[in-house]
Amino acid sequence: MAGKPLVAVTRIIPEAGLSVLRERTEIRLWEEEMPPDPEELGELLTGAAGALTLLTDVIDGAVLDREPQLKVISNFAVGYDNVDVEAATERGVAVCNTPGVLTETTADFAWTLMMAAARRVVESVEYVRAGQWKTWGPTLLLGRDIHGATIGIVGFGRIGKEMARRARGFDMRILAYDTHQDDEGAAEFGVEFRPLDDLLRESDFVTLHVALTPETTHLIGARELGLMKPEAVLVNASRGPVVDTAALVAALRDGEIWAAGLDVTDPEPLPPDHPLITMPNAIVVPHTASATVATRDNMAALAAKNLLAVLDGEMPPEIVNPEVLKRQ
Ligand code: GLV
Repeated sequence: MAGKPLVAVTRIIPEAGLSVLRERTEIRLWEEEMPPDPEELGELLTGAAGALTLLTDVIDGAVLDREPQLKVISNFAVGYDNVDVEAATERGVAVCNTPGVLTETTADFAWTLMMAAARRVVESVEYVRAGQWKTWGPTLLLGRDIHGATIGIVGFGRIGKEMARRARGFDMRILAYDTHQDDEGAAEFGVEFRPLDDLLRESDFVTLHVALTPETTHLIGARELGLMKPEAVLVNASRGPVVDTAALVAALRDGEIWAAGLDVTDPEPLPPDHPLITMPNAIVVPHTASATVATRDNMAALAAKNLLAVLDGEMPPEIVNPEVLKRQ
């Protein structure tokens, strides 16, 4: 009888995924806090039939060529810009991701960042902690209203729509930009589609929910930030390179926009003395928008399920390049 297939898991993920894999496979687990470097990743993948990877692992054609027995890269993330999907497809390797299970959780957190930046929550906490709170002040730490304001959602996919659902509860005017104009979704959520420039000009809050592709890299640069209102808040819970970091620093410094709430940055992590970390009108968190106990369990379980399905020769619940399996 053949032994269990070997799978590489590039970091400790919740037991909800590891236990599913353990039953059916032999796991080679990377147990360090930091991701494997390219050489260590190569060693980890040696001889593996499948790999459960994170967004910090770069999987390109060269990595895949060293392991021609690899059948599946199952990414523990909805985004898969760390994987060269074209190279994987050419080599017959399935690429899977974890959409759906993190949608609401990510929207909840993008909303949290938006409110925290608008109402200066981090600055206020720092003010109190620094012992500066002497009295109630009529003009102390004034923020911006969220209710009744205009929100511009860039990327009207799953997470973008959940932002629209939340915005309705805050009685906001909702604008959206996407390369695909989803009229049905717009009607459902009371959203008006706008060209990107118009959305940027009209919105008090701009929130980014696009995948990172060559087209969306630096989608928000100096020109786009210049179109935004000086009172506007920018939220990014997509991928760091969607925003031109240097342009954002300049816009926040020069008052071209009012504040930013960033789940993601370029680079990640930012060096501790980076202006985005030290500026009072920027809030940076360490890419934790999907980080709840339940959601990370669900992501782990789905990533494990995807991986096992491919090893079983079945269509996994979530696959980026289904043509690979249809071909076989
Ligand atoms: C996290 O950023 C993800 O893509 O799931």
